[in-house]
Amino acid sequence: MTQAFYRKWRPQKWDEVLGQGHVTQTLQNALVGDRVGHAYLFAGPRGTGKTTVARLLAKAVNCQHEDVTQRPCDECQYCKAVNENRFLDMIEIDAASNNGVEDVRDLRDKINFAPSQGQFKIYIIDEVHMLSTAAFNALLKTLEEPPPHAIFILATTEIHKIPATVLSRCQRHEFRRVPVESIVQQLKIIAEGESLKVDADAMQLIARQASGGMRDAISLLDQLASIGDKITLDLAQTVLGAATSETVLELVDAVRDEDPGAGLQSIHQALDAGSDPRQLARQIVDYLRALMLFQMGNETQVDATQTVKNRMKIHASEFSASAVLRMMRAFNAAAVEQRGGWQPSLGLELALADVLEIQDDAALAPVSETRTTPKKKSAPKAEVKRTQAPEPAPVQKTEASPKSAGEPTSQAQISTKEVMAVWKEIRARVKESDRNLEALLNSCKSLEVKGDTLILGMASEVLAEKIEKTESVETTQKAVNDVLGVILNIKCMVTNSKGRMPADVDQNGLVAAAIQAGGEIVDG
Ligand SMILES: Nc1ncnc2c1ncn2[C@@H]1O[C@H](COP(=O)(O)OP(=O)(O)OP(=O)(O)O)[C@@H](O)[C@H]1O
Ligand SMILES: [Mg+2]
Ligand SMILES: [Zn+2]
Repeated sequence: MTQAFYRKWRPQKWDEVLGQGHVTQTLQNALVGDRVGHAYLFAGPRGTGKTTVARLLAKAVNCQHEDVTQRPCDECQYCKAVNENRFLDMIEIDAASNNGVEDVRDLRDKINFAPSQGQFKIYIIDEVHMLSTAAFNALLKTLEEPPPHAIFILATTEIHKIPATVLSRCQRHEFRRVPVESIVQQLKIIAEGESLKVDADAMQLIARQASGGMRDAISLLDQLASIGDKITLDLAQTVLGAATSETVLELVDAVRDEDPGAGLQSIHQALDAGSDPRQLARQIVDYLRALMLFQMGNETQVDATQTVKNRMKIHASEFSASAVLRMMRAFNAAAVEQRGGWQPSLGLELALADVLEIQDDAALAPVSETRTTPKKKSAPKAEVKRTQAPEPAPVQKTEASPKSAGEPTSQAQISTKEVMAVWKEIRARVKESDRNLEALLNSCKSLEVKGDTLILGMASEVLAEKIEKTESVETTQKAVNDVLGVILNIKCMVTNSKGRMPADVDQNGLVAAAIQAGGEIVDG
């Protein structure tokens, strides 16, 4: 019924394309100077405007506006036909769908017929790197001698897979990641056009999360818009941000603590929850860059929420500058290399291994207090392991450990396991009256029933506070009661999946022990 934002907001004019001025300017100059080529290759990351610019060019070369600088005019019959996807002389081929051999053959058969509507036939071949060798060879023949009325636009995210013979016949344009400011600019336009209320720092967060991909940013906005009528930073963090940035923080903690088990655990959890390994690696590099800026006293240039900045400040003091640099190199390799192709986590794992080896080098990281603090490896874990049910019921998709089934105390009417088993249902109940609260509950990292209290572990203070608001507690309580028929008190605490406990939580209590054990399960 409703069209996805990113389609609805596809730029229709040159100046609506953001962050690719080097490409659009060259193409506009060629148009005005009547020097449009016959074969273009648009290369660059996903969702940065390749298809968009290809369609703009298709419109512009056929546009009937008398002033060439005004093309595409978006008003003549051909511009309109392209916009409405009914322009016969723009042929889009998706090489990813069937290796393209048939399509390319078909193209070769028909290419010599004159355009049926406009002046030029435009062939847009998306994901051209997916063409089979046979298809590439067929394409090559046409690229060698294209008829004057044909323009080819090949688009790819993986330029290194394009045969040199094809490269040499195309004018190449490199699309770049779209800068954060430009993404924010576009998100503002869309938010306004869609009458959405979006906090400025929520937009910043969305833009940063997208790592330069405009379509990703717009899709994230779309996703958030479907959850709440007001998109606040909290909501954005809950739904998209918190989990990932927490992974980065955990990973840096793990390096500091020289704890490979914890490091691997955070990597695998993030990937299991659907993070893209290279994107995660990029986020780690971004974070490390920020640490470097802190170390150089340029923290004003750091673009992050206050909460994250506080953590950065501490991390910046815990590593030497050269240690940060070497970490950056290691994770940057994971961000750019293809080596993880068949084993997605490999690049990150190797980076972590590199970095931890570096940590052995006494010349590097300063010995901070944390390094001499013994790691939490003590009796309570072992105890909890024994009391655990053999297979804790996994409930949440994005669930982080601990998956402890805990053990109800004698007077408890209901066990952790029972709550976990119906957690989805409880959330569904909550969702009926409060979607934001449901999103918050979905981001909760652990749950534990102690006596008649349900304790929720949240990734941050902000999130915990939100749930502890009276009306949220009541809603949650009611949902629990509806599903399980018991009234539980609801308490929140801050934890991370490694199970660091705030000082005021009973360190010897069952919850503390269970959460610590959570960090240990994967280690073992
Ligand atoms: N540079 C940009 N400026 C403004 N909007 C953009 C830009 N790039 C992408 N978009 C938005 O993202 C959507 C998708 O972009 P497009 O299809 O052009 O990406 P692409 O580079 O072809 O991606 P893919 O490699 O996945 O095919 C567009 O409809 C538009 O809404
Ligand atoms: Mg495309
Ligand atoms: Zn026109």
